[in-house]
Amino acid sequence: MRATFDYSGCTVMVVGGTSGINLGIARAFADAGARLGVASRNPAKVDAAVAMLSRPGRRALGYAFDVRDAEAVAKALTRFRAEAGEIDVLVSGAAGNFPAPAHRISPNGFKAVVDIDLLGTFHVMKAAYPHMRKPGGSIINISAPQAVVASPHQLHVCAAKAGVDMVTRCLAVEWGPEGLRVNSVLPGPIAGTEGMARLAPTAEARERISASVPLRRFGTPEDVAGACLFLGSDAARYVNGAVLMVDGGWALAGAPLGFEPQP
Ligand code: NAP
Ligand code: COA
Repeated sequence: MRATFDYSGCTVMVVGGTSGINLGIARAFADAGARLGVASRNPAKVDAAVAMLSRPGRRALGYAFDVRDAEAVAKALTRFRAEAGEIDVLVSGAAGNFPAPAHRISPNGFKAVVDIDLLGTFHVMKAAYPHMRKPGGSIINISAPQAVVASPHQLHVCAAKAGVDMVTRCLAVEWGPEGLRVNSVLPGPIAGTEGMARLAPTAEARERISASVPLRRFGTPEDVAGACLFLGSDAARYVNGAVLMVDGGWALAGAPLGFEPQP
């Protein structure tokens, strides 16, 4: 059965949308007709994403900021609202990761991941809130199976992403009365991404992961984008506070995340 979504006339912002999974999500919204904004730290990546995501008569808008800088995030989202109108869908997916045993994670290493993933998500949601369509808006936070599966060498990410999902749940309750929905999407192992390059750098590690997914394959950015198109749309109008695994059943099977630390 073919699923199609029509986002023409809708404004969508994807923070952390300049590479990997989030770029795939941004591309799916652009292909579905949305007026698109993308943001991340690196201005060259932002420019490349804008070029890739622009469509005839519909130029994407790009913003370079660090999600750890609350003021810069707020300024960019205010500009985006002025340039593109009320935001129908916000995807917040900027993140950082490195595998390391807990006793070798420095306080600053732990802080860097929590600051980007958790505090950054808060900054993005808070900055977007006044500009979201209410009622009718949808916020999608990109989390990870580490939020629910305790994983060696991923202490900082597990803590940060569990926090992201609790932020999702709290704001689903707090903002729901205004008609603003908040949900999390938890991608499983997605092929060809920076995350997987860091967590499964060898062919052997990738084979082990693929064999541990009940659907017996890595996911693709398009697999994750499908869930986001659903959550942003009217088809999900009664879905609020959900923490949606898009992982081929990996977490149910224990998501054996035996990731090796980098030397
Ligand atoms: P990626 O390509 O590295 O994407 C991360 C994005 O976030 C990039 O656009 C990056 O752009 C941006 N970013 C990072 N730090 C930032 C900061 N401080 N401020 C602003 N932007 C920042 O990684 P990915 O593997 O596709 O992961 C994307 C999302 O999916 C993440 O939330 C990740 O936790 C989640 N996830 C991934 C997997 C996987 O298999 N890869 C599995 C589960 C969950 P700049 O380089 O310009 O900063
Ligand atoms: N093992 C142990 N510690 C590490 C590490 C590793 N592989 N990589 C970085 N760190 C530590 C650094 O040593 C530093 O701590 P210190 O000051 O005590 O030495 C701390 O993490 C911050 O590093 P820095 O490079 O200054 O931080 P940053 O803010 O520029 O980068 C990261 C944040 C570390 C998460 C970086 O990997 C990043 O920006 N990643 C984005 C892309 C990504 O991870 N994509 C996958 C998403 S799932």
